[in-house]
Amino acid sequence: MTMGKGTLWGGRFEGAPDEAFRRFDSSFAFDRRLLPYELAVDRAWALGLVEAGILSREEAGRIAKALEEIGLRAETDPGWLDRVEAEDLHGFVEGELVERLGPLGAKLHTGRSRNEMIAADLRLFVKAAARSLRGRVGTLVAALATQADCHFGLPMAGMTHLQHAQPILFSHFLLSHAEGFERDADRLLAAVRSADFCPLGAGAFAGSTLPVDRAKLARELGFGAITGNSLDAVGDRDFALECLFALALLAIHLSRLAGDFILLASPEFGSLVLPDAFSTGSSMMPQKKNPDAWELIRGKTGRVAGALFALLVTLKGLPSSYQRDLQEDKEPLFDAYDHVSAATEIAAGAVAATGVNAERLRAGAADPALLATDAADYLVARGLPFRQAHEVVGALVKEGERRGVAWNELPLDVMRQFSPVFEPDWQRAVTLEAAIERRSLPGGTAPAAVRAQIESCRAWLARQAAEDAGA
Ligand code: ARG
Repeated sequence: MTMGKGTLWGGRFEGAPDEAFRRFDSSFAFDRRLLPYELAVDRAWALGLVEAGILSREEAGRIAKALEEIGLRAETDPGWLDRVEAEDLHGFVEGELVERLGPLGAKLHTGRSRNEMIAADLRLFVKAAARSLRGRVGTLVAALATQADCHFGLPMAGMTHLQHAQPILFSHFLLSHAEGFERDADRLLAAVRSADFCPLGAGAFAGSTLPVDRAKLARELGFGAITGNSLDAVGDRDFALECLFALALLAIHLSRLAGDFILLASPEFGSLVLPDAFSTGSSMMPQKKNPDAWELIRGKTGRVAGALFALLVTLKGLPSSYQRDLQEDKEPLFDAYDHVSAATEIAAGAVAATGVNAERLRAGAADPALLATDAADYLVARGLPFRQAHEVVGALVKEGERRGVAWNELPLDVMRQFSPVFEPDWQRAVTLEAAIERRSLPGGTAPAAVRAQIESCRAWLARQAAEDAGA
């Protein structure tokens, strides 16, 4: 029988595949995205075949030229690939080579398998995608650091359980998000490092019979090293899973940032001002400005966590070496990457454009309830055991509530009934400024500690840029 252009098997088959199965089987609609990596892999392999004595230099040159043409056409004529019918990316490229070069085009597949090719393509994709996303995460971290710098010194009500807890600097809050994103970027780099092993030479799974120089192929493609076992090389996708986990965690961190910004921009808080450029209106309610950018960012978390689960379950229990199940690795990875990458870009823009209502933040920080811990500390400094001091201040808060005043507005004689340790000067010791200043350990909210966090954030950004230049 004769098979169509780009069909890579058929000798032992009679008749064409079932039409519905042919469509089910085809991955071209999504693996075509890997074309640039496939072409690079092909180019490197052609050089390997020269060394193995299968191709002459001149033939490899013609193949390289044809590969370049394919890449160029795909770039300049985007509709082209939409019209192509192919089982997969590999069949597509081979079909194009044969069309351009005749039998020479059919020589390139000597000694290799699609199984190692797709593993190489996907590793190259993960490396490029994770690196590019690291850049976007860096932009987001920089936007947070810049806002932290701009509003340095501004206090806000710090909360636990969404209840007023202790005062902090607004910059301290912003930088808390930066910390998580820095770790996300580091996790993405870890995924790059896991993907940085070249599987070419693994063959279908048992290893290639050709005397190709695997290390040279790896260098050619920018891999740091070669894979160590050919079954593992074609059969594992742990590097993709690591990338997906980093993406999912980044999505979760983005969703938490979104949650905070949505809350702080609600009129009840009124601490942040939504930027027009990242908000939408209502078709019915003329007054509305909605935080849709942040809501969509938060909403992406579901599909990204789903993608991670999809690949986890796909890999579970797979026999060693290549199984076709592995074709299912690509769409969740691509989808998660696309959406997290877009969400990161939007988050960076929205953070940078968000306005800050300093008065509202200061007003929130002025709540005397935020100083209760410091009042207890005041008593401790004058000899009271902490548990007793805690009890005294708790009772003062209750007494204030009973009288309808803030606890720190109770007359001194009343306070001294609760504890004679209170001195007339206690109000000068227990202040918002002091409460912030006193938390001066590294990582704390004191201005010097927060300044150090901004510095370390900037140092991290410089380190990441250097790592990406060198990695
Ligand atoms: N489309 C396949 C994948 O994504 C490529 C490898 C195909 N190998 C095979 N033996 N059918 O995994």
